[in-house]
Amino acid sequence: MSETMETDGYACRVVDLKKEYVLKSETVRALRGVTFDIPVGDYVAIMGPSGSGKSTLLNVLGCLDQPTSGSLWLGNDDAAKMSDDELADIRSQRIGFVFQAYNLIQQLTVVENIQVPLFYQGRPLSPEQRKRCHDLAKMVGLGDRLDHRPTQLSGGQQQRVAIARSLVNDPYFILADEPTGNLDSRTTEEILQLFERLNNEGRTIILVTHEDEVSKRAKRVVRLKDGRLQWDRINSQEVRDEAARYALENMPVEV
Ligand SMILES: Nc1ncnc2c1ncn2[C@@H]1O[C@H](COP(=O)(O)OP(=O)(O)OP(=O)(O)O)[C@@H](O)[C@H]1O
Ligand SMILES: [Mg+2]
Repeated sequence: MSETMETDGYACRVVDLKKEYVLKSETVRALRGVTFDIPVGDYVAIMGPSGSGKSTLLNVLGCLDQPTSGSLWLGNDDAAKMSDDELADIRSQRIGFVFQAYNLIQQLTVVENIQVPLFYQGRPLSPEQRKRCHDLAKMVGLGDRLDHRPTQLSGGQQQRVAIARSLVNDPYFILADEPTGNLDSRTTEEILQLFERLNNEGRTIILVTHEDEVSKRAKRVVRLKDGRLQWDRINSQEVRDEAARYALENMPVEV
């Protein structure tokens, strides 16, 4: 694997990806041959009914799960040719994960939670790394909450910690599985604005959502159905702007 993923302009590509779960009584075909490319700098929303394979696809893209067949390319690197150690490195150091349930460590403070992915490198943190974690906390608007613990934060604040944590290793891309699924509309808006800013800065973002209002904010929407790609569309800038305007105009009044 190359140290600085040569990309040819692609963050990742999947070709005829299949994933089967073999259970005692049956085989679940969660992905039945999915092919698409994600250019660097893209912002993709993956949609589809419950059970259509969205999380399965995200897990394969994140090297959390191996496909049954088909290929996954991370930049120019064929994931099938990587050793388990290389995949573990990619997973812990090169891909940023954001989950619906935030998945923060309750005993750690904001800044310590952001540091977590760095601990997997097995070295003490350098002063630069410490500074980076502080800077990320500030970047997501939590500069005044560095020593708070997750229980002392709102859902949106917790998700912002998770997003800062996902960025700490300067990942090739961010994978987010229903990142706004637990959030009210005001907080959803906060998170969407943060994603938009990160994407404008060049971050590649791939998120799963059930909500049209969220998917309309992405640059592109991929819809899965029964483990297959049903359609793949670009959102025009007008659609994105209109969705952002609508969200702001219909924001509940603060009480
Ligand atoms: N570990 C597993 N073992 C067996 N079957 C699984 C496993 N994970 C997922 N599946 C099955 O694979 C299919 C796709 O699941 P997946 O979680 O990808 O759906 P999803 O689109 O993310 O759904 P949701 O919107 O409900 O989160 C489903 O039929 C599910 O039951
Ligand atoms: Mg899911």
